[in-house]
Amino acid sequence: MEIKKFYIFPKPFWNSLIEVNISNLQKECYEIRKNIPSKNKSNLGQNSYHSPNLCNFKNPPEILKLMKQITKRIQAIHQESRRENVRLVDFWININGKGGSNVPHTHPGAKYSGVFYIKVPQEMKGGNLLFLKDYNERFLQSEENMGFFKQGYKFLPNDLPKIPVKPEEKLLIVFPSWLPHSVEPNDIDEERISLSFNYILFR
Ligand SMILES: [Fe+2]
Repeated sequence: MEIKKFYIFPKPFWNSLIEVNISNLQKECYEIRKNIPSKNKSNLGQNSYHSPNLCNFKNPPEILKLMKQITKRIQAIHQESRRENVRLVDFWININGKGGSNVPHTHPGAKYSGVFYIKVPQEMKGGNLLFLKDYNERFLQSEENMGFFKQGYKFLPNDLPKIPVKPEEKLLIVFPSWLPHSVEPNDIDEERISLSFNYILFR
C-alpha cells in the first residue's frame, strides 16, 4: 500500500547577514538607553529596556546605516513578487538583561516585521526567538485533538508548536507581521541587544 504525505501552507521567514560596525552600534544603543526612557510593550523582566519608536528621534549614524540596509532587504523581499514599495514606520531597540523576555504577540497593522541582533552573549542560554503556531492550529494538532504520539516518535517540523531561531550578531530575521512570536527569557547576566521594526506598504 502506497501512501504519500504532503505538507501545505508553509509560512515564510527570511534571514540575511548585514555588515555593520557592531561595536559602534552597541555604543549607540547604550546611549539611547541613557537618554530615552523605556517603554513597556511585550517585554517582561525588570532588567529589560524597550525604547519608544526611534523613527521619532534623531538617530546616530550607525543605526541610520543599518536601517537603510534593512529597508533595502525588505524592499527586495517584497518586490520579489509584488509592486509596492515598503516604508519603515516603527523601530525600537530591546536590551534584555537576565530574565528579560517577550510574551507571544504579533505586530498588527504592519506587513513585515523582524529583528536584527546587535549584541548576543557568547555563552547564550535561552533568548531564542520563537515562531509560534496560532492558537487554533495548535489546538487542532494537539494530542487532545489528534491523539497521542507513539513512543520514540520524532517530531517533524510541522508537528512542532514552536520553532526556535538562535540569535547571532549581525543577523537579520524578517517575517510577516501576522506571524505569532515570542522571545525566551535570557538566562544569563550579560545583556542581549536587538533592534525590531515594522514596515508597511505604499504605492
Ligand atoms: Fe515582535
